[in-house]
Amino acid sequence: MKSQTTRPSDLFNDENSNTSANPYFEEVLGSRLTRRSLFRGAGLTATALGATAVTGCATTGSGGSGASVDGLGFKPVAKSTADKVSIPEGYTAQIIYALGDPLAAGVPAYKNDGTDTAFEQRAGDHHDGMEWFGLDAAGKPSDSFNTRGILGVNHEATTDEKLASFFIHANGGASTLPRPASEVDKELAIHGLSFVEVQASGKQWAYKPTSPFNRRITAMTTAAIHGPARGSEHLVTKFSADATLCRGTLNNCGTGKTPWGTFVSGEENWFGYFSRDAKDDDARKKDKQVQGLKRYGRNAGAASRHGWESAGPQDQYARWNNSAIGASAKDDYRNEMNTFGYVVEVDAYDTAAPMRKRTGLGRFAHESVAFAKPVAGQPIVCYMGDDARNEYIYKFVSAAKWDPKDASPANRLAAGDKYLDKGTLFAARFKDDGAGEWLELSMDNPKIANSSYFEFKSDADIAVFTRLAADVAGATKMDRPEWGGVHPRTGEFYSTLTNNSSRTVEKIDAANPRVYTDMKGNKEQKGNVNGHIVRMADASPTSTAFKWDIYVFGAEAGADKSSVNLSNLTDENDMSSPDGLVFSPATGICWIQTDDGAYTDQTNCMMLAAIPGKLGDGGPRTVKQGDKEVTTYVGKTPTPTTLARFLVGPRDCEITGWCETPDGRAVFINIQHPGENTAMADVNDPSKYTSQWPTNAGYGAGKRPRSATIVITKNDGGLIGV
Ligand code: FEO
Ligand code: CA
Ligand code: CA
Repeated sequence: MKSQTTRPSDLFNDENSNTSANPYFEEVLGSRLTRRSLFRGAGLTATALGATAVTGCATTGSGGSGASVDGLGFKPVAKSTADKVSIPEGYTAQIIYALGDPLAAGVPAYKNDGTDTAFEQRAGDHHDGMEWFGLDAAGKPSDSFNTRGILGVNHEATTDEKLASFFIHANGGASTLPRPASEVDKELAIHGLSFVEVQASGKQWAYKPTSPFNRRITAMTTAAIHGPARGSEHLVTKFSADATLCRGTLNNCGTGKTPWGTFVSGEENWFGYFSRDAKDDDARKKDKQVQGLKRYGRNAGAASRHGWESAGPQDQYARWNNSAIGASAKDDYRNEMNTFGYVVEVDAYDTAAPMRKRTGLGRFAHESVAFAKPVAGQPIVCYMGDDARNEYIYKFVSAAKWDPKDASPANRLAAGDKYLDKGTLFAARFKDDGAGEWLELSMDNPKIANSSYFEFKSDADIAVFTRLAADVAGATKMDRPEWGGVHPRTGEFYSTLTNNSSRTVEKIDAANPRVYTDMKGNKEQKGNVNGHIVRMADASPTSTAFKWDIYVFGAEAGADKSSVNLSNLTDENDMSSPDGLVFSPATGICWIQTDDGAYTDQTNCMMLAAIPGKLGDGGPRTVKQGDKEVTTYVGKTPTPTTLARFLVGPRDCEITGWCETPDGRAVFINIQHPGENTAMADVNDPSKYTSQWPTNAGYGAGKRPRSATIVITKNDGGLIGV
């Protein structure tokens, strides 16, 4: 999702529903003088911050070797608005898997003219997060084989202007209600996940259209509900009266790979797919569900993004009307929206095993799941962001202790049951002195158990209404927490905060300290326009205490260095709206991907390589924003050898998804929604498409732009980025 654009889909991708009284820290920051004396009194100089950044989890990342490089080894790529993928000299990019590509024998090649069907057996749209699941020559799971594997791919959303996914319909589809069922059927199928076998023959990579490992999961695929919300009254539907099953996964953004070898995927902007009747608050007799629906972005009378509910009375369409229209929850889909917003887990190697919704990880606009390195006898720990304006950062700590034998379990999803179904969720509170606290979200927290703000009766209620629990606990409103990664050497957690158009001077705090105006042509963009990346060091992986600083602030190189370009970015590494963030297990390089709408007058979205230091390697910095001053903590200023642009994508895309072969010599990424600002009315006039990628790079038929996976290799066969 982009920032500050006027694209209709932004209505559904940039929600702002946090009306809680939680601090933006103006209370904490109320007295700047007092705060400063506190700061001095605590002796928290930059050095001390570094010294106190205890990293009990200072070990290698999940599955990683902890390998690391000292400097980046490529010539930075220039900013560009060309309709192509730009990479450094000495590298090659191959397009291998695009929207509509067949995934089974007998499925015709993609014509890419809007007449294609059978999307249940084709690649979905808007490729997003992605993970590698290796295969050996015999087709058995392998952590070391480098030329054959399964890519687990999120298909987050689709390109729309009004209702229809216009590039997959011959004449663009219907932009008024009711939507034709034939169009909706295709749109249901292009969402979800795909699992696709890829292999290399010499230097040539390709996906395998007829592999038995190929699998699609769509908005209609049955899922099992696991964790505390299984059986909850809030998940009862006409489809599952006992609330143990539900259907589909939606708007899957970031991913993760569990220490036991499964794929996990976060459901992000699912709320926009549901409609609510104008009188639905009354129909529900204003019960607590109404408060829950509002907190998750669905007021009564809300229209859905695609109008799927309008396509007919049949169940597959009716389920998108999230209104109380039947005699009870067993007779309608008033609770259907509550079955989305989770992390789903899939065994990439077992095409028959149903996906599981892991409700213990909370319900919000999930991005990635970043696992800390598992330690024998210690709980499994993972970190997650809730991407909406002014939402929170979360951490999950399993009840079960890690048994290294589970690294290759006989039953992978049973291992998921063991580690993800029982545990404790926490939300982060950032203090203004560089410290922070993880706030427990459980019935053991008296603030939650005794809340008058929202009635929590059980851990199931916390799993379903997680944002409300975090409100009560007192978490800090952040500038849209996106993906995160755990640094393989330091164990520190890095979270992108992509931007926040609703941050105002009154609401700045130490961890979200910027509010400024940036011009895009003659358009003013306000708030935290370009985003930043916060890093956090837990005293130990299970500790509730952490330290934090800002690794880097996004900015235009030419922006004011005292208030905006605080990390002194240059032409080699300036960026806006960091979103994807993944540490390479093979090299330790931190790959940063942008989903930007603010700097796109000067450059398309991009991917940068980074070698960050550690928390506290910079120091405190007092920043004046309007008439307010705030002291934040900024990491060591990057240089082009520690932060450099590696790739720029085609027009109107975002760069997302990142995984690699175990040897680090092939990196897979996704180009999402090239050409998304094309007008629906121009669907049959290629000369007016804002992008014709990947056809203009020689891939596939037709000229309509397509989301696609690319693989990057170094021409000398070396490690990527080194
Ligand atoms: Fe799916 Fe928030 O990026
Ligand atoms: Ca994104
Ligand atoms: Ca600008």
